[in-house]
Amino acid sequence: MGEQIREMVLADYDAVVALWKSTPGVDIRPVTDGKEGIERLLARNPGLSVVAVNDRELVGCALASHDGRRGFLQHVVVAPASRGQGLARAMIDRCIERLREHHLGWVHLDVVVDNEAAMAFWEKAGWHRVDTLTRLSRAL
Ligand SMILES: CC(C)(COP(=O)(O)OP(=O)(O)OC[C@H]1O[C@@H](n2cnc3c(N)ncnc32)[C@H](O)[C@@H]1OP(=O)(O)O)[C@@H](O)C(=O)NCCC(=O)NCCS
Repeated sequence: MGEQIREMVLADYDAVVALWKSTPGVDIRPVTDGKEGIERLLARNPGLSVVAVNDRELVGCALASHDGRRGFLQHVVVAPASRGQGLARAMIDRCIERLREHHLGWVHLDVVVDNEAAMAFWEKAGWHRVDTLTRLSRAL
């Protein structure tokens, strides 16, 4: 595998957004996924988010963060041509390793309900659905 996993830095932003935009099902939020929003995320969570790069381009990313109690993974994406090589697993393993250093109880992520391929991926990787909770949200 010629790809390398490394910490995401703000200079990766344009390539990361291009990857999100080219991936069906990735919901790009105007505030939190804008450049300033990602800058805040990276500043508040140093060393947690990662990208996968080869010698030509950025081919994967995973945003990781925590609030002091729970960890979160978001926008885990690998470019189609680079899938099936263990890149997502390698990015997630690294995120989890770093999240563990923060003494958190759990790490959570959201999967859009009809994204069956993503559910199959997460369940194969040992994640489980939480049937006892319903997520409630409101805009700020
Ligand atoms: C889901 C995604 C990130 C997987 O990336 P990837 O780099 O191909 O995954 P990996 O190669 O690391 O796969 C790790 C394992 O999961 C398995 N796997 C990968 N995709 C799978 C799928 N859709 N269904 C079932 N298993 C899957 C692999 O076979 C591999 O198993 P193994 O370790 O036994 O060989 C990628 O398909 C993607 O970007 N999808 C679109 C974006 C998306 O839906 N992201 C999730 C948002 S919640």
